[in-house]
Amino acid sequence: MPTMPTDWTPRETVVISGAAGRIGRSIVPLLRRPGRMLRLLDLEIPDAPREDYVTWHRVSIEDPDGLTAAMRGATAVVHLAGLASERPWRDILRVNIDGTHNVLEAARANGVQRVLLASSAHAVGFTPVSEAHSATVLPPRPDTYYGMSKAAVEALGSLYADRFGMSIVSARICTFDEEPGDGRTIALWLSPGDAARLVEAAVALDDGRHHVVWGVSDNAPRWLPLEAGHEIGYHPVDDAVSFRTRRDGVAPAWPDPEVLLGGSFTDAAHPVGGTW
Ligand SMILES: NC(=O)c1ccc[n+]([C@@H]2O[C@H](COP(=O)([O-])OP(=O)(O)OC[C@H]3O[C@@H](n4cnc5c(N)ncnc54)[C@H](O)[C@@H]3O)[C@@H](O)[C@H]2O)c1
Repeated sequence: MPTMPTDWTPRETVVISGAAGRIGRSIVPLLRRPGRMLRLLDLEIPDAPREDYVTWHRVSIEDPDGLTAAMRGATAVVHLAGLASERPWRDILRVNIDGTHNVLEAARANGVQRVLLASSAHAVGFTPVSEAHSATVLPPRPDTYYGMSKAAVEALGSLYADRFGMSIVSARICTFDEEPGDGRTIALWLSPGDAARLVEAAVALDDGRHHVVWGVSDNAPRWLPLEAGHEIGYHPVDDAVSFRTRRDGVAPAWPDPEVLLGGSFTDAAHPVGGTW
């Protein structure tokens, strides 16, 4: 294992909130680069082996001072922390919306210009898949308080880009997993490799604008357009159909597009404000 020279100054420092979560754990190893320091934040620090160029910090996104200190000298922020499914209104407000505001404020106060915000397909969950082909960004149509909070996250991203000239990407992440599952997740899969490619595009972006892109792999024959992603330099290479065909020796059934993007989050079995 390389040893960090004592006089080493990183070329860039990328802060990742919620780094101990499913996506963070999976992509952090893919984001290591010469000259890059990864500063990882979460509520609990995992029992991981110590690695050069990677530091862990116990910081809540509900703690503005802790965040401001954690972002000192950073060049980019990848904001993954939050409640990743439906919760009561107060919790969603406190963690997902106030928490994102705290992250953006800490970034602004430290002059951090590049930010990736983890939005979700649930920000537009009540949109029929058949209407999602257009390259125009879909307006909010949340399926839950969770989805509403992601629409608010996007609105905050837009505000901070327009007001403060920050380059911000709101990624409408679809279904992240190590391997594609069945049914609709064949069309909505985001692979770890493509999630890392999306992060790389966002931390390199420097146009002072806000972009809403799909956080999805290139799953053919595609439910979702990739143009907005291409515009920021995100070029996914993984494909759920070829992955499954390679793995199983048979192509998976492509899902019926006569459904809503939010899938089961739009069901009566998933009440607004409930927990599951
Ligand atoms: N996994 C997916 O398929 C998917 C899809 C759409 C959007 N997203 C979004 O991507 C992000 C990451 O998703 P994930 O699957 O890794 O979720 P996850 O629940 O596995 O991880 C979230 C992490 O955030 C941390 N966290 C929660 N509250 C915090 C706080 N107050 N301060 C600091 N850290 C806190 C948790 O400890 C956890 O490690 C989330 O914002 C989620 O909404 C994920």
